Amino acid sequence: MSQAETAPAPPSTWSGRFTEPVAQRVQRYTASIPFDWRLAPYDIRGSLAHAAMLQRIGVLSADDLDAIRRGLGEIQAEFEAGAFAWNLEDEDVHFTIERALTRRIGDAGKRLHTGRSRNDQVATDVRLWLRDAIDAILATLADARGALIDLAETHADTVMPGFTHLQAAQPVTFGHHLLAWQEMLARDAERLADCRRRVNRLPLGAAALAGTSYPIDRAFVARELGFDEVCENSLDAVSDRDFAIEFLAAGALIMTHLSRMAEELVLWMTPRFGFIDLPDRFCTGSSIMPQKKNPDVPELIRGKTGRMNGHLVALLTLMKGQPLAYNKDNQEDKEPLFDAVDTLLDSLAIFAELVPGIRVRAERMREAAVEGHATATDLADYLVKKGLPFREAHEAVARAVRAAEEAGVDLAGLPLAQLRVFSTRIEDDVYAVLTLEGSLAARDHIGGTAPRQVRAAAARARQRLAARGV
Ligand code: ARG
Repeated sequence: MSQAETAPAPPSTWSGRFTEPVAQRVQRYTASIPFDWRLAPYDIRGSLAHAAMLQRIGVLSADDLDAIRRGLGEIQAEFEAGAFAWNLEDEDVHFTIERALTRRIGDAGKRLHTGRSRNDQVATDVRLWLRDAIDAILATLADARGALIDLAETHADTVMPGFTHLQAAQPVTFGHHLLAWQEMLARDAERLADCRRRVNRLPLGAAALAGTSYPIDRAFVARELGFDEVCENSLDAVSDRDFAIEFLAAGALIMTHLSRMAEELVLWMTPRFGFIDLPDRFCTGSSIMPQKKNPDVPELIRGKTGRMNGHLVALLTLMKGQPLAYNKDNQEDKEPLFDAVDTLLDSLAIFAELVPGIRVRAERMREAAVEGHATATDLADYLVKKGLPFREAHEAVARAVRAAEEAGVDLAGLPLAQLRVFSTRIEDDVYAVLTLEGSLAARDHIGGTAPRQVRAAAARARQRLAARGV
């Protein structure tokens, strides 16, 4: 290997055992600093807690601890000012910070790594980072849910066709539909909150894999860093990435939900449906077709679901062949996690902004419900209440729908005499159930689409959100 292909002299952190410098390509291939610099504030927090613990157990002097606090404080300030400089030779965020600290404060910096390893350090950093990320995602989820509940209340009486097989099925209110979306996101919040409990455990103290010979106080470090518990087994602590996989699974479901909602927005915005309009600021035009207004934002939400699913599969695959304990494979957990969090925060925030901007075209929704004979089930139920067995009622109504189709009217548009051809049990009072409002009002139980139930459901959802956030 020629000199030109070798990297600068290997860093003193582990080079003692090596007789030649690492190849440049290898250096680039193995370094994680180009992406894990994002963990810097969490690495610093972890180091501060570790140093405080080392001083308590007599491994560090009070002067060393002071120097470490000062040095890490300066590095943190640099990070916040956007002046945090890294280079490839430092390999990863842990070495970068440790060396920057040692340059500043000398020997005390070299003592910081006593009783720990980058293996328990990185697991701690990722958990601290992910805990914050989950909290931020939960806050954005709450915004999105709040926006849905508000709009649902506004549209507790707005009629639209509910669909099965994408065919008009029965009337529902638009508010009811929006609250269905809200339920999906409420479950997502529950899942994240549950996942957070398993994220919030402290790996530090596991050291490289077997623990350490220093009399460390892990409970103290856990308290300092706000962890609920310590990881029980050192081998598991450094190698476990279940918490990250769980998070990605919860994240993939969030994106799946947003994607389904986005799909409906896209459909509803087509001129054929014409149920809604989105503000121009969420759409773009076409470079060639002047009449177009494209729902780019919902389409991108739908599209970004692909990468989320990819990240979940990436981490599952990353873990499946790994023997205990730490392996360098684990370094590959970061980019999927970072991108997942960025994607989730962006998508949820833009969705929360978009929802209040939805302009509802209530007339088009109503027309679609009428055209779809959405009250056919109500007519069948009416006949059942008048004593006809349901199967016969179903048949009678099917024939009535065909007659209405042929006459080009909806069921309520057929005169009584004609309706009675299909069943003599039909009387004047039938028109009360054939109207859209009659159909809605009849579904008057918890979970039903009756406007007063929708209003009550919205109030309960708002209460739950305010009380628990999940
Ligand atoms: N950059 C590494 C990672 O992301 C840190 C841990 C390295 N540990 C090791 N034994 N090489 O996983």
